[in-house]
Amino acid sequence: MTKAHALVVDDEPDILDLIKITLARMDLTARTAADIAEAKRLLSDQAFDLCLTDMQLPDGSGIELVAYINARYPETPVAMITAHGNMSSAVAAMKAGAFDFVAKPVNLQLLRRLVESALRLRESDLTPPEKTGSAQELLGQSRPMREIRRLITKIARNQAPVFITGESGTGKEVAARLIHGEGPRQAAPFVPVNCGAIPEDLVESELFGHKKGSFTGAVGDKPGLFQAAERGTLFLDEVADLPLPAQVKLLRAIQEKSVRAVGSQQEVPVDARIISASHRDLNTEVEQGRFRQDLFYRINVIELRMPALRERPEDIPVLAAHILERISRQTGRGPMRLSSAGLERLTSYRFPGNVRELENILERAAALCESDEIGVDELYLPQGSSSTTIAGSPAQTDVPLENYLDEIEKKAILQALEETRWNRTAAAKKLGMTLRSLRYRLSKLGLD
Ligand SMILES: Nc1ncnc2c1ncn2[C@@H]1O[C@H](COP(=O)(O)OP(=O)(O)OP(=O)(O)O)[C@@H](O)[C@H]1O
Ligand SMILES: [Mg+2]
Repeated sequence: MTKAHALVVDDEPDILDLIKITLARMDLTARTAADIAEAKRLLSDQAFDLCLTDMQLPDGSGIELVAYINARYPETPVAMITAHGNMSSAVAAMKAGAFDFVAKPVNLQLLRRLVESALRLRESDLTPPEKTGSAQELLGQSRPMREIRRLITKIARNQAPVFITGESGTGKEVAARLIHGEGPRQAAPFVPVNCGAIPEDLVESELFGHKKGSFTGAVGDKPGLFQAAERGTLFLDEVADLPLPAQVKLLRAIQEKSVRAVGSQQEVPVDARIISASHRDLNTEVEQGRFRQDLFYRINVIELRMPALRERPEDIPVLAAHILERISRQTGRGPMRLSSAGLERLTSYRFPGNVRELENILERAAALCESDEIGVDELYLPQGSSSTTIAGSPAQTDVPLENYLDEIEKKAILQALEETRWNRTAAAKKLGMTLRSLRYRLSKLGLD
């Protein structure tokens, strides 16, 4: 590969020198500019593989330069050099399209990694998405789905923190993996963490590591998940479940790009891209004091909203066919298909559990179905569920069918009893059953 060219923009000669030397050791040539006007001149002169710019320049803000380069030279990644602790300018720069930031005083190890990941963006080095199979992973030709795939490819080129929202089962984790897999960190690990699954008192040690003897049970030094994601991506799933004390520490780690293991005095630099996700509305969590506003602001630089399946019903046939194909492969039985009535019923269903629920429905149907065609009956979709679910309960398709039906029955009976002030005769009438039948059901469901 040809030698890479960098443009460094800063009005402090010392910083220019330091960065120039570091880049030269990495075998890059660097040209320097002391203000925006000069930077623009150099940009029109030659192509750069990377630009590093200071925030405050004599003739304007570095953010202006970021926006300028993004509009005119979108192939050139720009990173912002920010004053220590000035997170709002780092966030503003990334929102304007900077691919990353580095804080002053410049940590050379982090600078080298930043440069390496910028250079990996050079087209020829990245495995094209078609090769990693991403096109097949997030299926659907609906407009929202095509837009999601386009955004993922764009976001993958950048290092800014991403927050993925969306209902349960909409593909948040798949999206996070794609952002990692299509970007310059693809060769390094993708480390998923379920924030809600770690016991509260272990969160810190899991994320940042611990030193031997720092607490009972710490029998040796253990690196944290941040370190495991070095040069890769740390996926903080269900981030809203992080306890508040851990949120403080996480904020610090993201701001400083370094972590301190439990029981250690030393901060070590880490280079991990943060992608987080939650099915909860973090704005509400912030309002109610359960999530720190400053952390939310920091992790939510780019927001990706995964659409619910009911917002894109036109994708259901393709998804269903794909899932059925996988089921036949896994179970070793011949090809299966949906009857046209079955497909029609599916496309009008609300899918509170989204794609995962579709998978569960089809797996259950395939198990119950004796022929190669799945009909309406085998889908076991709640009656009249196309606009609202029965008795207001979301379909729990990951529990056995029996329990599921019992739950629905129980809700309907309780509702009728409540509405009739526990007058069984009136409730039975309301439910369209005999008193005897109601009594039988009450005892079966343990309600008597
Ligand atoms: N567009 C899609 N095309 C194909 N499969 C999909 C799509 N979206 C989701 N899936 C599949 O649906 C299932 C759920 O996806 P995933 O685990 O990413 O959802 P999630 O949003 O993280 O859900 P939760 O909030 O419950 O954790 C997975 O098996 C995934 O492969
Ligand atoms: Mg998930």
